[in-house]
Amino acid sequence: MRLTLPTEEEFGNFAAAFARRLRPGDVVALSGPVGAGKSAFVRAVVRELHGSDQSCSPSFTFRHRYEGDPPIEHIDFFRIDDPAELTELGLEEALDGHAVALIEWWRNAPEAIPAQRYEIEIQGAGDQPRTITLREAQ
Ligand SMILES: Nc1ncnc2c1ncn2[C@@H]1O[C@H](COP(=O)(O)OP(=O)(O)O)[C@@H](O)[C@H]1O
Ligand SMILES: [Mg+2]
Repeated sequence: MRLTLPTEEEFGNFAAAFARRLRPGDVVALSGPVGAGKSAFVRAVVRELHGSDQSCSPSFTFRHRYEGDPPIEHIDFFRIDDPAELTELGLEEALDGHAVALIEWWRNAPEAIPAQRYEIEIQGAGDQPRTITLREAQ
């Protein structure tokens, strides 16, 4: 499925509608260039499922867990050069099936995440409209 979202509000509404179908254990793999809106997408999911913006350090490096029902794991593979690092960083715990997990830059370690996942690619940056391609793998 592919759709174009001209405004940030429509982008957020799409993320919120998508969030409502997510269940614990679901994995969402996000791709797109810097500034596309991957983190904005995660924030919209958290807002929808937890009902509020949680105070979260915006500068986490690998993993941030938002406690709630369901818990939400926000993971970023941007700085991963070697998938072997992931075990140390707690990836298995993040993907243990209890939380909804959203992963930015997943192509840095595609074999480290479950094959069953949603893949969301975001195109566009800055003030451009965003195009979202959603694919359900497996
Ligand atoms: N139509 C739009 N859809 C999504 N984000 C938008 C839109 N227009 C502007 N933005 C802004 O683009 C930025 C995307 O940044 P971010 O989510 O950190 O990107 P990424 O995580 O992909 O690098 C946010 O500051 C967001 O407010
Ligand atoms: Mg980001």
